[in-house]
Amino acid sequence: MAVKVLDHALIKHKLTNIRKKETKTINFYQNVSEIAGLMAFEISRNFPLKEIEIETPVCTSTQYELASEITIVPILRAGLGMVDGIRGMIPTAKIAFIGLYRDEETLEPVEYYAKFPKDIASSIVLVVDPMLATGGSAIAAIDMLKRAGCQNINYVGLVGAPVGVNNLQTAHPDINIYLASLDEKLNEDGYIVPGLGDCGDRLFGTK
Ligand code: PRP
Ligand code: URA
Repeated sequence: MAVKVLDHALIKHKLTNIRKKETKTINFYQNVSEIAGLMAFEISRNFPLKEIEIETPVCTSTQYELASEITIVPILRAGLGMVDGIRGMIPTAKIAFIGLYRDEETLEPVEYYAKFPKDIASSIVLVVDPMLATGGSAIAAIDMLKRAGCQNINYVGLVGAPVGVNNLQTAHPDINIYLASLDEKLNEDGYIVPGLGDCGDRLFGTK
């Protein structure tokens, strides 16, 4: 499926805030969280609804509620920065966890944790990770979710490199890919350019 870049003035503005190298941890986290919430609002526009009968103070009325469970799946660590913003929009969402880190030499993803709700297979899944660089982490995470039976999988990232988008589309042509920005390239160290640096470290103050 095609990658969708969510081109919104507020998203662009907040993305500029996190790209600035002087942005401090607390503001960095705040802006990542807000962008994730705005992205969730756009992505969920056409989520399936079911009709339900309710009593308003005035009458009986047929209204709508979400028809499917939603599960947010942050790829640890940096994906955690997107969870609160999306939960703000979809408070009933369940949270699953996938722990992966990139080996600094090979850039290959290494799996170290997974915890899924029992009924994840029937859920609409939002895999969240701010950075789509080589695509290795996203591909490995989606492999794990498909092995658990998931069919409706959406990847939600902030900044993507063209090579990562290509790799992810080739490995998983059936998923939706949403980004806040498709950046220029990946550099020789595996960092997205212009990018925003090491997202995990900037979110959690570890450097
Ligand atoms: C970062 C990022 C992605 C991954 C992207 O995580 O959050 O998970 O790199 O790179 P890829 O597309 O080349 O796989 P990192 O491995 O730095 O771990 P962290 O989130 O724990 O800092
Ligand atoms: N992971 C990051 O945190 N930043 C990048 O630019 C690439 C991968």
